Amino acid sequence: MDVTIKVRRFDPEVEDPAPYWQDFTVDLQDSATVLDALIKIREEVDGSLSLRCSCRSSICGSCAMRINGHACLACKTQVRQAIGPDNTITVEPAGVMPVVKDLVVDFEMFWDKIMAVEPYLQPEGPEPEAEYIASNESMLHLSGVTACIMCGACVSDCTVMEVDPTFLGPAALAKAYRFTADPRDGKSKERLRMLNEPTGMWDCTRCLECVQVCPKGVAPMDRIMALRDQAISAGFDKTYGARHAEAFSDLVEHSGWLDELRIVPKTVGVANVPALLHLAPEALRALTHGKLPPIIHKKIEDVQGFRKVFKNADEAPKE
Ligand code: SF4
Ligand code: SF4
Ligand code: FES
Repeated sequence: MDVTIKVRRFDPEVEDPAPYWQDFTVDLQDSATVLDALIKIREEVDGSLSLRCSCRSSICGSCAMRINGHACLACKTQVRQAIGPDNTITVEPAGVMPVVKDLVVDFEMFWDKIMAVEPYLQPEGPEPEAEYIASNESMLHLSGVTACIMCGACVSDCTVMEVDPTFLGPAALAKAYRFTADPRDGKSKERLRMLNEPTGMWDCTRCLECVQVCPKGVAPMDRIMALRDQAISAGFDKTYGARHAEAFSDLVEHSGWLDELRIVPKTVGVANVPALLHLAPEALRALTHGKLPPIIHKKIEDVQGFRKVFKNADEAPKE
């Protein structure tokens, strides 16, 4: 079948380099992947097309790029699944990280963030005399997160990293969880203290993008939520993030839906006048644009039933 691959290209070596789109129409077998198509273009049409790949089997993580607007592995994406009604597939470099050339991006920032979470076991206590046997359950629990192949797809499409490159991001935070949840690690509390700082676990907006694009089912956002639980359980409950989570849950439990007017003072603290004053212009803007939530917040009809859900959740055995 004839397929048009629309590639976003970039050559840093030309005068005034700027990204541009180029279409390539290639004849492909029904079973071809997008990576097969790109390799065919490079080998038969334009040898200057730059891309990374190695295993061609969704193992090495080197071929992550945006296909039809979302990050994925080119070797895992079948042409017949990606093709649009106009027989076209768009291919772009991964997002967030700077483009080196065509579909190749610079992973330095990705690796810096992974290294920032100290991705290695740090046992405590005297040197063990024999091997430490971790329970099957604990290792099974970690198997989902250890499946990460460091492809960077989650980082590419993280909506927070797009605007705030200081955020540690989904891959590094998922990696951090791999150690905070490992019974052999002795630095869990120190790790959580560090991850609790601004740019850490509380900066995720729970947009779910990283869960959707991860080709290995690591579900980074779920790991970030688990880190938050761990941090609160470890006593790190005074941050805005922790207080916001608690205030959110209290308010919803109370009335059955969120009282948006009260969540801000409950999060920053009613006595925290400087923080409240800092937010005043925002409140004024909301007021003048008709976005201020209702002053009188009514409970939903069956609020008792709703509270039972919270009670059951509180009483349910924790992981
Ligand atoms: S859920 Fe959080 S970490 Fe994942 S992409 Fe969205 S903002 Fe980023
Ligand atoms: S968490 Fe998933 S998307 Fe992110 S780097 Fe690992 S394998 Fe890739
Ligand atoms: S080439 Fe290795 S994951 Fe795609």
